Amino acid sequence: MLAPLMQGGLSCWDETQILGGEHRQEQVAVALRESSVAVLLVSSDFLASEFVLGQGLSMLLASAQKESRPKIFWIAVRPCLWQHSAVSTYQPAQDPSRPLSTLSDSEAEAALAGICQLIRAAVVTASSSLGTVALSNPYRGLGAFQIDDAHLFFGRAALTEKLWQRFRLLYDTKEAAWLLAILGPSGSGKSSVAQAGLLAELCERPVPGPQAVRMAVVKPGEHPLRALALALCPAPIGQAPDLTAQSKLIDDLCQPDKRGRFDRLALWAANLPHAATSPLVLLIDQFEEIYTLCTDKAERDAFVELLLHAAHDRSRHVAVVLTLRSDFLGETQRQHPALNRLIGDQEVIITAMSDEDLRRAITKPAEQAGHPLDESTVQLLITETHGSEGTLPLLEFALTRI
Ligand SMILES: Nc1ncnc2c1ncn2[C@@H]1O[C@H](COP(=O)(O)OP(=O)(O)OP(=O)(O)O)[C@@H](O)[C@H]1O
Ligand SMILES: [Mg+2]
Repeated sequence: MLAPLMQGGLSCWDETQILGGEHRQEQVAVALRESSVAVLLVSSDFLASEFVLGQGLSMLLASAQKESRPKIFWIAVRPCLWQHSAVSTYQPAQDPSRPLSTLSDSEAEAALAGICQLIRAAVVTASSSLGTVALSNPYRGLGAFQIDDAHLFFGRAALTEKLWQRFRLLYDTKEAAWLLAILGPSGSGKSSVAQAGLLAELCERPVPGPQAVRMAVVKPGEHPLRALALALCPAPIGQAPDLTAQSKLIDDLCQPDKRGRFDRLALWAANLPHAATSPLVLLIDQFEEIYTLCTDKAERDAFVELLLHAAHDRSRHVAVVLTLRSDFLGETQRQHPALNRLIGDQEVIITAMSDEDLRRAITKPAEQAGHPLDESTVQLLITETHGSEGTLPLLEFALTRI
């Protein structure tokens, strides 16, 4: 399998390169840190190995992803119960229900070619972004920070901790719905703290833990149900989305049960492997779009009902986190009173950043990139930003220009 990649100019590392006397776990950790892509070859032996069962592998992969974020793929080499293992949380590089050993020669050749292409594409993406890290701007400009930007995200540590604690408390409080609303004015940093803050923290400290949580980010847009189905059934990397599966899921989600309840999201999540230990965390970002962009009232109401039902489900397979502009609270009151009451009880408000937080947000990314800003510039930016509503995007934009 390595030959086609090496012919393509990629350098590969495998365990045969560990020299006698070297500590295996440390060598694997170093190799992972230095790699753009890690590929796990999965068989029942591998899954039954001490390395996997003893969580050594999960810990190594988690710490590598924290530091250098290699892309992790896995390949089902022989039939095995991968659905019940830690690897099911990573991206399969081929259809795992058809392990390589069960394919005919020509099918295996085609599958291997596809895998090589996938890995090559991931390496090229990784190396082009790596190549620009030193040169590229460590500030996000007008855009929100994403989960992958967590290493550039500063100034919101206390708020992230508060969100994580609240999220955990809601999980522990059996009578509470597992729904957390993040509210704040436009441009206050809701989407950023939800993704680069809370979701990134959940990668490190999953709830209930220790299994990784599943995450999906949904922007409702014009068709919230379609956006939800797309997030639940993403297209495999490099492949076209399976439109039939998506429209089947949309139809499914819209079906109320005999008592008129929209329970299909909770049911769908309950069927995922390890549903109880690896819950699905759904971030509905820009929730106000269900009022501003979606014009179909039936679809909007079904979407809200699905989320409410799933969040109230006692089996705790689905957690809903939503970000909402506070000026849309009135709309939830008018159109979705049950949701409005829940938001009222389970919300965290994004407050203005303190001078200290601003200082960290301004200075840390530049320091990390090896180009610290001078103190007078920092002080000027803090003074200009402090206390003025909605200036965070302007600050971030200004920083991209320095
Ligand atoms: N901790 C931070 N440090 C520096 N800049 C930040 C931080 N958080 C957010 N920003 C910047 O502030 C701007 C607004 O952030 P974000 O999009 O997350 O806010 P929002 O409240 O979701 O906005 P909207 O109401 O438009 O959805 C963006 O330019 C983002 O890069
Ligand atoms: Mg936002």
